[in-house]
Amino acid sequence: MQLKKRSKLGAAFHYTKGFRLTMIISFLLIGVELIISFVSPLIMSVTIDSVLGFNPLNVAWYFRWYIVLIGGVDYIREHLWLMAATLLGMQVIAGVVRFVRAKLNTHAGEGSVRELRNQLYAHIQRLPFSWHATSQTGDIIQRATNDIDTIRRFNTGVLLEFVRTILMLIVGSAIMFTIDTTLASITLGMLVPVFLTSVLFFRRINKLNNELEQTEGELFTVMQENLTGIRVVRAFGRSAFEAQKFNAKNDENCRRILKVTNNFSLLWALLDILCGIEIAVIMIVGIYLVVGKQLTVGMFTAFTTYVFTFFWPIRGFGRVLSQFSKTVVAVSRIEEIFNAEEEADLDSGITPPINGDIEFKDVCFSYGTVPVLDHFNMKIKGGSTVAFLGGTGSGKSTVTLLLQRLYEPQSGKITIGGIDIKDIKKTHLRNRISMVMQEPFLYSKTILQNIGIKTRQPDQELCETAAKYACVHEDIMSFEDKYETVVGERGVTLSGGQKQRVAIARALTGESDVLIFDDSLSAVDTKTDASIRDALKKFRGGVTTIIISHRVTTLMEADRIYVIKNGKVAEEGTHEELMSIPNGIYRKTFNIQSSVVEGA
Ligand SMILES: Nc1ncnc2c1ncn2[C@@H]1O[C@H](COP(=O)(O)OP(=O)(O)OP(=O)(O)O)[C@@H](O)[C@H]1O
Ligand SMILES: [Mg+2]
Repeated sequence: MQLKKRSKLGAAFHYTKGFRLTMIISFLLIGVELIISFVSPLIMSVTIDSVLGFNPLNVAWYFRWYIVLIGGVDYIREHLWLMAATLLGMQVIAGVVRFVRAKLNTHAGEGSVRELRNQLYAHIQRLPFSWHATSQTGDIIQRATNDIDTIRRFNTGVLLEFVRTILMLIVGSAIMFTIDTTLASITLGMLVPVFLTSVLFFRRINKLNNELEQTEGELFTVMQENLTGIRVVRAFGRSAFEAQKFNAKNDENCRRILKVTNNFSLLWALLDILCGIEIAVIMIVGIYLVVGKQLTVGMFTAFTTYVFTFFWPIRGFGRVLSQFSKTVVAVSRIEEIFNAEEEADLDSGITPPINGDIEFKDVCFSYGTVPVLDHFNMKIKGGSTVAFLGGTGSGKSTVTLLLQRLYEPQSGKITIGGIDIKDIKKTHLRNRISMVMQEPFLYSKTILQNIGIKTRQPDQELCETAAKYACVHEDIMSFEDKYETVVGERGVTLSGGQKQRVAIARALTGESDVLIFDDSLSAVDTKTDASIRDALKKFRGGVTTIIISHRVTTLMEADRIYVIKNGKVAEEGTHEELMSIPNGIYRKTFNIQSSVVEGA
């Protein structure tokens, strides 16, 4: 549901939950600051008119009370330092209040943003796999950094500025009207065109900001994709093209920034002119009133100070409004993430053993409109080792994703040990199923931390044993820092085969009921492939194992092999059984691969 702009700003303030009292106190302190800034000119005014000018004291009750308190006009005339001390005292109070207010405000703003960031991060962690599969990483990062920062600026500065300006109008008008109605009316009346100009520009800048946010997101995406795929970029000599692509996006971004800043410059200039006119009018009318004895020199001086006091906040009001529009955009973008539905019943459901028979019954599944599995049926005996063979895009990985409930089938059901996996707690299911992904991901951490990822404190011995099973122990020992070698961006770059084997070792740490190797041996030579499989045989015990591979030699020893085609199991059986099917897919694949090997 699209919220209104005002409710979006409300939502930005809503994020300060837990820090509201601090925020409200800081707003109250602004009131104190404002009162001081409006009362200070009155001290000058009284000094000029009544102390030095012998005019009768014509001030509000609270001020008269203060004059009497410090000894009355005649006494002050003899002790002028009293007025100076009063001014100084007020400035000291204003300084202390400003300091406390700034501290409280920063505390509330930064604290609430920390909470917001934590909530967003936790929420992203709980979003379904399908959301992540279709989201742009660069864009999410931009939302979690830039947009949150815009909300922080709103809560720490912009909102305060807004409250200050509104309070200033209230306090200022109250004090100005007690001095002179004509001048007060002119000052406030002149604010109308200033407001109208602001609102007009606010609309324009709002639209431009929306476009700017979008190009900024795209720029991040281009950069992130380029950096992630830097090897492809270099290997295919696409650097120049990538640079061009980036330049084009960057130019567009720059053009949009210029558009926004040009509008701002125009806004500032117009507001300056309007404020200049206001000051000129006040000067002229004020001088007339003073000459006509309708206004004292002191009050006139106080008024000119007020006009300047109004000048800066009103001039900055355009900025406040533009920040409002930026905040509206930022909140919408953050809410888009928050509104994405978290994975349901992640932590609810039963926790049965997962080592029973796995059965796919009439499962239909499609990503969007493209069907992948079509009335798919399969039965895997618990504790057995099975293998999937199939063309690329035939749906092998999809079957494993469905088994972990990373996606839900549109129809049909999947059972483990006779229990519908819909009833099983997702975290339990995923914990017990260890998967080596087709494209393994390693963190920029040490090899030990990468292998022992399932536990907070990786167990060296356990990780080493797993690494030995995965035939990567010797490779690791050949590195200078051994298991402490840092992988990835900050450290050593592992070869594709080493990465795969580290990922295999990771899957072998800790207990699991099902092990899935999704094309996990594709990057190792046939000899290593065979030794890993040998080692796995010893390791497996009663663990159900699913091996996906395009290499028949990797699969042939499995207890049962499933050939997947057109969203169905086209053939199934042992190697011998499948080889006996004349014109069978498996048999053909085997023959092609063995002739390639023989011919090589
Ligand atoms: N997140 C996704 N969104 C949309 N379509 C997808 C998604 N993931 C996979 N597909 C499509 O679904 C089909 C099956 O993909 P899947 O990854 O299961 O194939 P596969 O058999 O594992 O292939 P490979 O042997 O190449 O790994 C493919 O046509 C693929 O393009
Ligand atoms: Mg796959």
